[in-house]
Amino acid sequence: MTQKEINLEEQFQARIDRDESIEAKDWMPEKYRKTHIRQISQHAHSEIVGMLPEGNWITRAPSLRRKVALLAKVQDEAGHGLYLYSAAETLGITRDELTEQLHSGKAKYSSIFNYPALTWADMGAIGWLVDGAAIMNQVMLTRTSYGPYARAMVRICKEESFHQRQGYEIMLTLCKGTALQKELAQDALNRFWWPSLMMFGPKDDESPNTEQSVKWKIKRKTNDELRQQFVDQTVPQAEFLGLTVPDPALKWNEERGHYDFGDIDWDEFWQVVKGHGPCNKERIDARVKAWEEGEWVRDAAVTHAEKKDSRTEQKVA
Ligand SMILES: [Fe+2]
Ligand SMILES: [Fe+2]
Repeated sequence: MTQKEINLEEQFQARIDRDESIEAKDWMPEKYRKTHIRQISQHAHSEIVGMLPEGNWITRAPSLRRKVALLAKVQDEAGHGLYLYSAAETLGITRDELTEQLHSGKAKYSSIFNYPALTWADMGAIGWLVDGAAIMNQVMLTRTSYGPYARAMVRICKEESFHQRQGYEIMLTLCKGTALQKELAQDALNRFWWPSLMMFGPKDDESPNTEQSVKWKIKRKTNDELRQQFVDQTVPQAEFLGLTVPDPALKWNEERGHYDFGDIDWDEFWQVVKGHGPCNKERIDARVKAWEEGEWVRDAAVTHAEKKDSRTEQKVA
């Protein structure tokens, strides 16, 4: 590194330490830019792929009210994806490149969306647990150092809290219903509990990016801190539903003021991350198919925009 670069980096860190937000045109270390492209695009892809398990249930929602709410939720996720792709683009990558990275498997998305949604109760469990875990991460991100990302997260968080409540309300209705309905709710919790805890990522001592991310205020809490916070918040909600969290080691620890909980199956986590989860292939195939079938729409939009531009040019001339 040259002396000039060292100075720039020191000034950059000083701005972060003063809690100033970093904007698209500001100088930033290459690694900061790359980390953000990776993180924001991974987040955008998760929103878009996350539409698939729930989209699958829109036609089978048990009432018009449930259908409208689920439709709105899935549309919100599309909007989240679009804001986030735009935020990633401010760092100098194109939408086409981002899409290509998802389709080729180079870019990751949250491993939770590689699990199937088998019953209607899964719509409840996903909203309650998956959106709940997402909120925990995202509230922290509203104060992340990169301005365009932080601002996108403010709006996204408002919508996520609606998602979580609609999920919890589905669970509550099922738990107050027939024995079979309650059984479905318990089964959904059994299947989604551990994958939800995995959403916070590897343990701190196995998360190589955490230290730098905390220093740059990309992250303000570590994976393990957020996971603990999620468990502490969610266990009383499960109790209120009258459901059992599928973890025999789960116990309130008076001394720590937190719940102790059992070990996550990290083999399963890495298998899913590496592309061998129950639905990895299905999800990517669905995205590629949508991309190919939507080609004529993109072409028509570009042609329309070009025609409009040339007409305005003619008028100006
Ligand atoms: Fe979302
Ligand atoms: Fe959501």
